[in-house]
Amino acid sequence: MALREHAAQLAEGNISDLFVADAQRPQRFSAEAAGIYLDYSKQRADDQALKLLLALAQQQDLADWIGRMFAGEAINQTENRAAFHVALRAPRDAVMRIGGRDVGAAVHGVLDRVCAFAEQVRSGSWLGAGGKAITDVVNIGIGGSDLGPRMVCRALAGHADGPRVHFVANVDGAQLTAVLHGLEPATTLFIVTSKMFTTLETMANAGAARRWLVAALGEGAVSRHFVAVSTSSKEVARFGIDAANMFEFWDWVGGRYSLWSAVGLSIAVTIGDARFRQMLAGAHAMDEHFRSAPLEKNLPVLMGLLAVWNCNCLGARSQVVAPYAQDLEFFVPWLQQLEMESNGKSVDRQGQAVDYATTPALWGDVGTNGQHAFFQMLHQGPAIHPVDFILPLRAAHALDEQQRMLIANCLAQSAALMLGKTPPQVRAELQGKGLQGAALEAALPPRVFSGNRPSNTLLLPQLDPHHLGALLALYEHRTFVQSVIWNINAFDQWGVELGKQLAQSVLVAMAGDDGVSLDPSTRTLLARSGQ
Ligand code: F6P
Repeated sequence: MALREHAAQLAEGNISDLFVADAQRPQRFSAEAAGIYLDYSKQRADDQALKLLLALAQQQDLADWIGRMFAGEAINQTENRAAFHVALRAPRDAVMRIGGRDVGAAVHGVLDRVCAFAEQVRSGSWLGAGGKAITDVVNIGIGGSDLGPRMVCRALAGHADGPRVHFVANVDGAQLTAVLHGLEPATTLFIVTSKMFTTLETMANAGAARRWLVAALGEGAVSRHFVAVSTSSKEVARFGIDAANMFEFWDWVGGRYSLWSAVGLSIAVTIGDARFRQMLAGAHAMDEHFRSAPLEKNLPVLMGLLAVWNCNCLGARSQVVAPYAQDLEFFVPWLQQLEMESNGKSVDRQGQAVDYATTPALWGDVGTNGQHAFFQMLHQGPAIHPVDFILPLRAAHALDEQQRMLIANCLAQSAALMLGKTPPQVRAELQGKGLQGAALEAALPPRVFSGNRPSNTLLLPQLDPHHLGALLALYEHRTFVQSVIWNINAFDQWGVELGKQLAQSVLVAMAGDDGVSLDPSTRTLLARSGQ
């Protein structure tokens, strides 16, 4: 209540006034960890807001929940499981216990196997059935078994020196067809990635890929061209992939938190063992910060609390993320699953319906592209959509002048959102152009910017494995912080199940079973589909 009242008071002023009142605001409203610098001085928040948010964190036992996650407790209570992705990037000598059992040795055993296999593929010592080295790797998986590795392989493309890597997720056969077009069965390796190994899309694509390979090279070739990443050795065997070609992970790794596990095999193949481990080390550095830094200096905590502030106190309708780096073009889809599959819930941990907003829609695109598309609405639409600007400073390419333009644009956008442009400013500008009278009055309103629109800016020295790892872990923990404040379980995803069940019913109806109960609209659409 006090938070909402304070937010209403702040809404009467401007973010830019807060800088007038406090010359040290840029320094005081910033924090740094694992090489990532967070500037939150352009949020519509002051010391009192932070004090109230930190009190809320205390009231919700945030420190205790962080401790419980790192202690491997079953914080995913609907599935009675730990959410222990931090164990996947802990160093070899760390003790990482789930219920008294140290999982460190198992984690590093699989990691070593993943890296060794990736090196075999990269060096050309893993041969296809015809004796040729692998030139193309195809990861078949969906959701967390796709978005994380796809995003990282793209983000670190500048560091890639392995075989070409491709991703197939959609059950729409157009995607697999397009990827297979131009690939040689004899030099292609498929990584079938699925936690459960029963996922409809993945099994359909893997089956079709297997038939494509067998048609060209025969059944005997499967063991040299198919490997699996899964928690289920039973389902992997049922599909017909050798146990020796399976890389394991565990039920305490959520799909959307899994790129650090064997799910990252395609990443290790693309960038190699050493860089893959640098990425894990970057994430671990952020984990250590999250676990040990005081809440008021803790990046994921600050970002999580400010997200709650924007959503629940300022009434923001959505969260925009704008990475100013073309190589982060798949960052937003990855983050959408992370955030919205984790926190898109309306029942709390006690099973009660919540009477407050939980995760807002998260969307965005790389800068500067977004500026020429949806930024119009961010600047002048009636609703507030807070933005996270993400800016790696040093580029991997040699076009320095363009990097300066990119940086200038990123900084200008957050400034414009905050400052806006007042009617007197617009008037002076128009008068300077010779406009006056009715023409000036008509031209004025559409050129006014209200400003006072909040944003964070995250600076990374560059987009390398270490800083990417830290950035991803930062967002993972931010998501968790929000869930603690909202008292919801971030680690289950029951909301995806109903659609899966109904798709099965529709498939049964398509096969001619009239006994399937479908609503009249769906039955009519099915009839029109000609199936
Ligand atoms: O349907 C949602 C989901 O279960 C995600 O949570 C998961 O990342 C994705 O499907 C893929 O699941 P799997 O890795 O088991 O194929």
